[in-house]
Amino acid sequence: MIKNIKGTKDLLPETTYNIQDIENHLNRFMYIHGYGEIRTPIFEATDLFTRSVGENTDIVNKEMYTWQDQNGQSLTLRPEMTASVVRAYIQKQLWKTEPISKFYYIGPSFRRERPQKGRLRQFHQFGVEAIGSSNPEQDAEIISIAYNIYQMFGIKELSIKINTLGSDEVRPKYIEALKKSLSKFKSAFNKSEYERLQKNPLRILDSKNKDIQSLINEHAPNIFDYISKDDKQHFKKVLEILDTMEIPYTQDKNLVRGLDYYNRTVFEVVSDTLGGQDALCGGGRYDKLIQQLGGAEIPAIGFAAGMERLMLAMDLENNQIVQTDIYIINVEEDLIEQSMLLADDIRKNLGVAVYVDSLRRSLKSQLRHANKMNAKYTIIMDSETVKNKTVVIKNMSEKIQESIKLNNIVSYFESE
Ligand code: HAM
Repeated sequence: MIKNIKGTKDLLPETTYNIQDIENHLNRFMYIHGYGEIRTPIFEATDLFTRSVGENTDIVNKEMYTWQDQNGQSLTLRPEMTASVVRAYIQKQLWKTEPISKFYYIGPSFRRERPQKGRLRQFHQFGVEAIGSSNPEQDAEIISIAYNIYQMFGIKELSIKINTLGSDEVRPKYIEALKKSLSKFKSAFNKSEYERLQKNPLRILDSKNKDIQSLINEHAPNIFDYISKDDKQHFKKVLEILDTMEIPYTQDKNLVRGLDYYNRTVFEVVSDTLGGQDALCGGGRYDKLIQQLGGAEIPAIGFAAGMERLMLAMDLENNQIVQTDIYIINVEEDLIEQSMLLADDIRKNLGVAVYVDSLRRSLKSQLRHANKMNAKYTIIMDSETVKNKTVVIKNMSEKIQESIKLNNIVSYFESE
C-alpha cells in the first residue's frame, strides 16, 4: 500500500472545517488592517533560498527539498515564504508604483525536519510582510498584529520575546566578539555546536544546551553594547509604542532566529500551551534583503506563524463544528424527489446548509448521523408527510419539535 510521506498529513473535513474558519477570520483580520493577500508558487529557483535564508542555516544546509529539473535547473520547494514574496516584489518593481506594500499569505511550506508534535515536513504558514517603511511604528504594527491574532483565537498564556540585532554595519563586530569570547571554551561544545559557533556564531545564542546557555550568560558579550545609537533609538521607540498599545513583551537578548536575513527588531510569540520551546510565530526586520536579491534599497519587516501550531494551541480536538444547519430525514422511497427538492429550495432561499441522506438509512441511523454532524435542525419526512403535507421540524439543541406545513418550511426558518 502506498502511504503518505512522513511528516505530511491528509486533512479530513472535521479538520478542514476548522481551518476554513480560521482562514476566514485571518482574511477578515488582515483586510481590516489594510493588508492584501499574495500567492506565490510553491517552488522556486534554489538560489533564492540560499541567498536569502542563508547558506549556513539549518534550513538551507539540511532541510530543503531540492531537485534538478529536466533542463538541469535546481529547484526547491519553498521552506518559507518571505523570500518568494520579496522575489515577486522585486520582479514586479512594486516600489516604483507604491511606496509601501502590505501583504499576507497562507500556504504550505516544506522543511525536512524530524517530525514531531507541531513540527511537520509539509506545514502551513500564515505570514505578513510590510515592505517600504523603516519606521518603528511599522515594527510595532507587525508585532501587534501577530499578538492580536492569537488573542482573537483565544490563545492563553501568550508572551512575546523581542530583541534587536542592530544594523548590518555593526553586527559583524558583535559576531566577531561573540566568536572570540566563546571559542575559548572549545571543550564545552560538541562538534556540531562548535562548527555552528564558527560558521554562524549568532545561532549559538539560542542553543538549547543548558551548559552552553550558562556559558553564554556568563561570558558572551551583550549585543546591546555593540549596536548603534540609531538602532537603540529605533528599538526604544518600538517598545514605547508596544507599551502604549498594551502589548506585553519580554526582552530576550539571546533571541536571534534561524534565518540570516534579519537586522534590528526580531521577535517570537510563544505560548505555554504548546508545551515545548517551539514558537507560535516569529519574524523581524529584513532591511537589506530586497537590495541583496537585486531590488532597490527598501526596508521591510514581517512574521510567519505555523498554522498547525496555532491549531494545537487552540485545542480544537473537542470543537464541535456545525457541519450542516438542517438535516432532512426521509425514510420513504416515494419522498426522495420531494426531500431533494425541499433541500434545494431551502438552500436557494436561505443560503443555509442542508444535508440529505443518500444511503436510504433508517430513521434512527439518520438521526444519529444528524447528531454527529451537529445539525441545528432536522426535518423529518414520513408517511404523515404524504398524508397531511406536513413535516416535523426538530430543534436539536433545544430538543423541541413542531409540526409544520410543507409549504411553510422556508418561512418557518426565515423567522427562526
Ligand atoms: P520561521 O521561524 O522559520 O520564520 O517560521 C515561522 C513559523 O513557522 C514558526 O514559528 C513555526 O510556527 C512555523 N514552522 C516552522 N517550521 C515548521 C515545521 N517544520 N512544522 C510546523 N511549523 C513550522 C520564517 O519562516 C520567516 N519567513 C518569518 C518571517 C516573515 N520573517 C519575516 N517575515
